[in-house]
Amino acid sequence: MKDRFLRALKKQPVDKTPIWLMRQAGRYLPEYRATREKAGNFLALCKTPELACEVTLQPLRRYDLDAAIIFSDILTIPDAMGLELSLVENVGPVFNNPIKNTHQIKQLDIVDPSDDLGYVAKAIKLVKKELNDTPLIGFAGSPWTLAAYMVEGGSSRDFAKVKKLSYNDPDSMHLLLQKLTVAVTSYLKMQIQAGADAVMLFDTWGGLLSQSDYVSLSLNYMEKILLSLEPLGIPTIVFTKGGGMWLEKISRIGSTGIGLDWMTDIKVAKQIIGHKVALQGNLDPTIMLTTKAIIEKEAKNILDSYGIGNGHIFNLGHGITPDVPPENVKYLVDFVHSYSQQLHAQSSI
Ligand code: CP3
Repeated sequence: MKDRFLRALKKQPVDKTPIWLMRQAGRYLPEYRATREKAGNFLALCKTPELACEVTLQPLRRYDLDAAIIFSDILTIPDAMGLELSLVENVGPVFNNPIKNTHQIKQLDIVDPSDDLGYVAKAIKLVKKELNDTPLIGFAGSPWTLAAYMVEGGSSRDFAKVKKLSYNDPDSMHLLLQKLTVAVTSYLKMQIQAGADAVMLFDTWGGLLSQSDYVSLSLNYMEKILLSLEPLGIPTIVFTKGGGMWLEKISRIGSTGIGLDWMTDIKVAKQIIGHKVALQGNLDPTIMLTTKAIIEKEAKNILDSYGIGNGHIFNLGHGITPDVPPENVKYLVDFVHSYSQQLHAQSSI
């Protein structure tokens, strides 16, 4: 088993710091764009297991990555609930049937993932057959982040509609979050049963909330999900973008690892919660658009800030962007592996 990623997640010793990148399969790769073209559009790509499998594997053919992440999207759950997702060029995700009133929330079907999202389980099984020994990460959006897109109807600068709903009608908001919690839990269980070796919760918009709203609208529901997954014995990662000031709270909900955005100082994060959880991150994705010299300097800074000790998984602080030169990714992956060896050699003395 190429087990650096899973070992680091459990804070066990490794020979090199493992690395994978959020959105490692995506538009910066010409072969991804070609496969998307073949599928017709982004959602068709997600829903065709053979092609989803193909794009999951593409970055692993190019780079010495320590984990694969199943190619899909967090918005497949609301799509399966009947909101009808499409991805509009230069706009982002759009729902044809966004949530406009509380009646709709009451009417929302809780999806049966093995039926409505069975294509994701099929893709996972195909990928597992091809991967040999590299671990595969499954994922879902946090209930709050899914609700944010469902009420807004798509991306937004401030997500004011969903925040307004939370204040005006907290009962309906919590009903929506409860339904999503049930859906996300069974969706992740399905992914684990299909072969995912670890699962990650993406809470991209938790950082828009006040501290008390973050706890009641996002963190508590993620905790419920983790508690239900615990008997399955699979490691978990929670990533709240903009959650750097709540690390102590996040570290208490039972995940194995915590994803850090680039605004967070990984050295400080390690001091606060490094004894409890593994840390994943946290290079600013913009750095991938610069030069090899800058990438090396900044990656070294993160590795040195984490320093000697187990429990670091290198990643970006958010997803890789479409305009990144593919050779910069190769440079980063190889540099992290080669430079980090000395840190791990010292820690085993
Ligand atoms: O390689 C991987 O990381 C796995 C695949 C993956 C995608 N989306 C593919 C994708 C993962 C893990 C996601 C998660 C996701 N999706 C999140 C959480 C992480 C984050 O980035 O904050 C969110 C918020 C979404 C919702 C979403 N999907 C948005 C906002 C967009 C449009 C933005 C953009 O980058 O264009 C998408 C589309 C999307 N999901 C693309 C990919 C590769 C681009 C699709 C394309 O044009 O081909």
